[in-house]
Amino acid sequence: MTMPIIALVRPISQSIADCQLTHLNRQPIDLARARRQHADYVTALTNNGCQVLKLPQLDDCPDAVFVEDTAIVLPEVAIITRPGAVSRQPETASMATALQQFRTLKHIDQPAACIDGGDVVVDDKTIYVGLSSRSNHAAIEQLAELTGPFGYKVKGVALRDCLHLKTAVTRIAPGVFVGNPDWYESSSMPGQHIEVDPQEPFGANTVELDGVLLRAKEHPASNQRIADIGGNIVTVAADELAKAEGAVTCCSVLIHG
Ligand code: GLY
Repeated sequence: MTMPIIALVRPISQSIADCQLTHLNRQPIDLARARRQHADYVTALTNNGCQVLKLPQLDDCPDAVFVEDTAIVLPEVAIITRPGAVSRQPETASMATALQQFRTLKHIDQPAACIDGGDVVVDDKTIYVGLSSRSNHAAIEQLAELTGPFGYKVKGVALRDCLHLKTAVTRIAPGVFVGNPDWYESSSMPGQHIEVDPQEPFGANTVELDGVLLRAKEHPASNQRIADIGGNIVTVAADELAKAEGAVTCCSVLIHG
């Protein structure tokens, strides 16, 4: 019997309008619409094999809905991150509380180290970390120390013009990635790379569930490229939280049984 995937999510903060923005200009966010889209996202997770657990709403943390950045969950261990934006560091405590029932926890805690989970793509025993404005070499070194005993290698990936590695590229199957070649060094990640449609630069972001790829419906041409190679795609509207520089992967932390 397939074990459900546990998906940790968090409601959108009342203060989302004050979110961090790195590569986007600020524009008004319709909170009610964002909440409807988030609810549809949660329904899509539930309908596709996830048991959803909700973390507490954190209205003092504008970006707290983007739970992905606070943890890296592997089959053997979970790493609580040290987010690169100081405003986001208080988000990790409640993630640790929730995760400790599922995994042994380790922490990125070196003073010079910072890393966002959005910069992490795992393929088998390789952990790729985007060298973004949020993640640095000190965190890569500590992550390698923490995960090396479980057989992982950690590798930095050069990144440009986007917030996180998962903005630029995500894994859609073992050794298969979808990415925007303008934003990351695909040669750093051995495997097959499907390019997003050039009209959809943000079209890489994909939640990989068991046999299902959950993606934003705003990227139809890239969705078709993935479907053409056999991807089983489910889409949700995600354009309101995209204004906060968030995408579908950002809104959950997945714990595979
Ligand atoms: N607004 C998402 C982030 O900057 O972390």
